[in-house]
Amino acid sequence: MLNPDKIRNHFPSLSIKNNKGDKIIFLDGPGGTQVPKTVIDSISDYYKFSNANTHGEFETSNKTDIIMDSLREKMSIFLGAENKDCISIGHNMTTLNFSLARGLIKYFNEGDEVVITDLDHEANRGPWMILEEKGIKIIRINILKNGEIDYDDFVKKINKKTVMIAMGMSSNAIGTVNNFQFIKEIIENKNILFLLDAVHYAPHFSINVTDLNCDFLLCSSYKFYGPHLGFLYSRPGLLDKIETERLTVQDQNSPYKIETGTLNHAACKGAEKALDFISSLGNGNSYREKIEDAYKEIGEHEKALAKKLYSSLNKLENINVVGPDFSDKRSPTVSFIHKNISANNICKLLAKENICAWDGHFYAKKAIEKMGLHEIGGVTRLGISCYNSTDEIARTIRVLSKI
Ligand SMILES: Cc1ncc(COP(=O)(O)O)c(C=O)c1O
Repeated sequence: MLNPDKIRNHFPSLSIKNNKGDKIIFLDGPGGTQVPKTVIDSISDYYKFSNANTHGEFETSNKTDIIMDSLREKMSIFLGAENKDCISIGHNMTTLNFSLARGLIKYFNEGDEVVITDLDHEANRGPWMILEEKGIKIIRINILKNGEIDYDDFVKKINKKTVMIAMGMSSNAIGTVNNFQFIKEIIENKNILFLLDAVHYAPHFSINVTDLNCDFLLCSSYKFYGPHLGFLYSRPGLLDKIETERLTVQDQNSPYKIETGTLNHAACKGAEKALDFISSLGNGNSYREKIEDAYKEIGEHEKALAKKLYSSLNKLENINVVGPDFSDKRSPTVSFIHKNISANNICKLLAKENICAWDGHFYAKKAIEKMGLHEIGGVTRLGISCYNSTDEIARTIRVLSKI
């Protein structure tokens, strides 16, 4: 069993108090999680002991090379990838996805169809729109009123012209976990690239790209206890076939092929430590086993809190919780609307009690619009992370029940 008190000790920011003495409650994890001390220290240590550019003859440069390789190696294990050359590093997921889309514009032909969903964050919709410049069609999959993807619509829209499906694994706005397994099965043996946005999924569930049989997968370490960086997994050999924007003087092979300029080496060190932090929460004989075990523990803990929050909020007369319930796989992100108070004003009221939450559409604008929630200012989103405690959820429910 995950010991929340032990976990909380890793995070210095959890002891912040407001001037009334209320401890801060971070329920803003889907916008970015807090960072353990080991991650913070590793970033500072990088600048003290290893700060340099890569591929030099001197020690700090050698150390930086080792850090970069080690991060790629651990990230490949974290994602269940074939090897470290499948892992590209970028500023964030959005930037990597734009670079990939610009590369794929030359790979696809006029009349080809790329499928995206209306549930997705704009970072997995906007970049694909640029393919329209070449006459590639963007096909949009509807969502249902309950915030799930319309799979009938999905099946209908996949055809001989489909060259790629870009879908999210979990909605950052309302927590839905998508049935990417089903989509994977219907495109099995078809020549269709399968891209998964794991940004909201990766903090809560373990990932195995080999089982998922995807061609690309993207995630961001600032959503799972690390610094602001994005990662792209590409199936071995695939990135080498794509004409990405790249200086001719830089390495033209994967994983570097989609990376531009100098990376944030200190943040890379921090991202490696974030993976070490997750693995330290699990048991097992290998790094991968520890990661998988850690996610079982994290998942159980987060789900228990999210279910409690979900059912308590559902009982409140003025509050309507949106999105699917917890009968199926679902991420621990609970969004709601209040009958009389806007989502933004709810966040302001929560902030007065030192509770951090976000409101609006969270860049999943299409989904919020389609659910008819945009005109009212979107939803209030409470995201549970591994460091949240039963007491924090009880305090949050108490506050919301008085509003
Ligand atoms: C589901 C999802 N996809 C993509 C993104 C964009 O990630 P990044 O900020 O790394 O570009 C986010 C960010 O919130 C997200 O939640």
